Amino acid sequence: MSGWVELIWDGKRENEFTKENVDRNYGKVREVKKIPLPFQKIELLGIDKERSTLERWVPLFPEENWPKNYPKDWKNLFIWGDNKLAMSSLLQGININGETINPRGKIKLIYIDPPFATGADFSFKVPMPESWKDLMPKNEIVKSPSIMEELAYRDMWGGRTPEERIASYLNYMYERLVLMKELLANDGSIYVHLDYRMVHYVKLMMDEIFGRENFRNEIVWCYKTRQFSKKYWNRKHDITLFYTKSDDYTFNWEKVQTPLSESTLKKYRLIDEQGRRYRLVGRGITNSPIRSAKDVDPIWEKTHPELVVRDYLREGYPPEDWWLIDIVNQAAIERVNFPTQKPEKLLERIILASSNEGDIVADFFCGSGTLAAVAEKLGRRWVCCDMSKYAIHVTRKRLLDIANSKALGINVEDESKTPPYGKPVRPFYLVTIANYMTDKMYKRADVINLILNLYGASPMKQVFKHLHGLREKEKEIIHVGQANFPITPAEIHEVIKEFKETPFYKDGWTLVILGWDWAPDTFERARDLWEMQDVKLKLLHIPPVGKLDEVMKKYKLDLSKIANFEYAFDEEVRKHLRFIEPGYVWLEVKEDGLKVEIEIKDFWVRLPHGYEGLEEEIRRRIKEARSDRERQKYFLPLINYWAVDWNYDGVVFKHDFVSFDKKPGEGKVEVKTSHTHDRPGTYRVVVKITDIFGGETSKEIMVNVGD
Ligand SMILES: C[S@@+](CC[C@H](N)C(=O)[O-])C[C@H]1O[C@@H](n2cnc3c(N)ncnc32)[C@H](O)[C@@H]1O
Repeated sequence: MSGWVELIWDGKRENEFTKENVDRNYGKVREVKKIPLPFQKIELLGIDKERSTLERWVPLFPEENWPKNYPKDWKNLFIWGDNKLAMSSLLQGININGETINPRGKIKLIYIDPPFATGADFSFKVPMPESWKDLMPKNEIVKSPSIMEELAYRDMWGGRTPEERIASYLNYMYERLVLMKELLANDGSIYVHLDYRMVHYVKLMMDEIFGRENFRNEIVWCYKTRQFSKKYWNRKHDITLFYTKSDDYTFNWEKVQTPLSESTLKKYRLIDEQGRRYRLVGRGITNSPIRSAKDVDPIWEKTHPELVVRDYLREGYPPEDWWLIDIVNQAAIERVNFPTQKPEKLLERIILASSNEGDIVADFFCGSGTLAAVAEKLGRRWVCCDMSKYAIHVTRKRLLDIANSKALGINVEDESKTPPYGKPVRPFYLVTIANYMTDKMYKRADVINLILNLYGASPMKQVFKHLHGLREKEKEIIHVGQANFPITPAEIHEVIKEFKETPFYKDGWTLVILGWDWAPDTFERARDLWEMQDVKLKLLHIPPVGKLDEVMKKYKLDLSKIANFEYAFDEEVRKHLRFIEPGYVWLEVKEDGLKVEIEIKDFWVRLPHGYEGLEEEIRRRIKEARSDRERQKYFLPLINYWAVDWNYDGVVFKHDFVSFDKKPGEGKVEVKTSHTHDRPGTYRVVVKITDIFGGETSKEIMVNVGD
């Protein structure tokens, strides 16, 4: 007997797996392919631009108050993209703004909370205001997943049978855990948060990757929720597997010790010469009349010092592997309206125990950014990643507003009475990476064909690099964005360059860019390009895959079969699939001496598919509104927050002014703000609005003050 224990699943080994052939030699374990890709910087946040110079960014959080071993030139890293690509690229070392960051073997702690197979992981219910009640009885809009999220979801849970789906999940997790191990420091720790459905599979997999001897704990997080079943024991806990990379690791048990109960505290009644509290106990000596008795009369210290010993009051006792922590409920101050948000207290314990100030901690499935927020509060450096734009938007807002969030270590009962955390966020980069790579979808050429077909366009006869199709009657040339990559200003720039070399440009045709997803700022930058380069440009969203699927099913068409056909869909099919324009904002700008005042007069984003009727009705009401107030009732609830950079340098957007909607859906953001410049001149003012669906609309205005 070899004592061989191993979890096997379809796709783990290079060879095809057959049940008859289960022995150790049925093939090598598949190697995890690393596809390093360049990062693209989007924003540097948490800096005080007023005081920054060209040589140096000055943090909003004064450096002198950072922990001692927190390097002053470090910037935290927030990555929008698939974590497999993000980690592969991090392992190669990445270059941002001339700075190289290579966290291989440097991350002290990784916490992950990967999604479980419920569609809810990628679709969100966005609450709508009470004032819209007559328009929509159910006060919420369901935002369905984007194509990148759909693809990730299929990759993770693709399959016809439950076994196939579990195998895809295990392949998905295996690749990611292997990459995490490489990023982890030799004295690092990893915590994987799971629920009862997958924990046992992942435990065996982690034994293999990290070594069974490095398994430290199964932490049980107990909570109370209102749901009850009478069919089985009610499930009121999650499990977190805790592994370390070696047996040399940090575990600060004193920082997370379990406090003593009130009744135990009361027992420490005696006070020594230095004012320390203690109780007197028997030494446990055989034949002693008091043996191990507790709370022995203090007189014994004088009469029989050899039989007693002082038991001094400690802060608590070493922590246990089960924790009772409240879930983030509806009323919790830390709630950021993200369906799978975990309590800060949970992350606080993990970070305190398994890292020290200045260490790098990471979460590659960061969701609403709980790890980043707690790491900030505890003086740790952090790297976080998520592929959902909504998650990026929620986390970014949470970090920008961190000063107003709850301080750590506060009991639920005292939350509203305690002052907030009060410190600004330390500088962090928000970077993007190609969002999803998949060879499981259709070929790029087929996707282009399909989208052109749906848009009513035909493919180009000549071969161009970026120009894919045309609509003769409308005089439009079409570029279709990649399904796995958000369109960036750089891509638009390339397309415009090619377009300008064609006769279509000279003949006044319009360039249409059809995109699945867009990097922040793309629309505004595209508008600049359009004006500067004198090109007629139209940017349109491609309908979400879920909607395409739904319409195809309705007409009994098979998406995968028709992708390479060369025929145009008839009107009947196409009318259900809208290629919609991005949102817009109407600003009123007033200048008075050195002062600039900006007011949002109207704002609009397209509502998700399925809400076309509601959208039309709201637009009609806004149009007919007789006062600003009435108009605001309909457009303000769509704004999650907005920010202004009063002196944009063309590189880094700085949040000089920010107004948040504290309770989503209430429409309580301010509509007006002003700023007085120090000296006369021409300033580039940029206004950026983040809507409740996580999209962004920005506008740039040139102001001339003090002339
Ligand atoms: C359960 S949530 C995490 C919640 C988080 N712990 C919190 O407190 O808010 C899981 C997250 O993983 C993200 N995700 C799923 N697959 C991903 C992938 N391949 N790359 C990056 N993020 C991914 C989802 O978008 C989702 O936000």
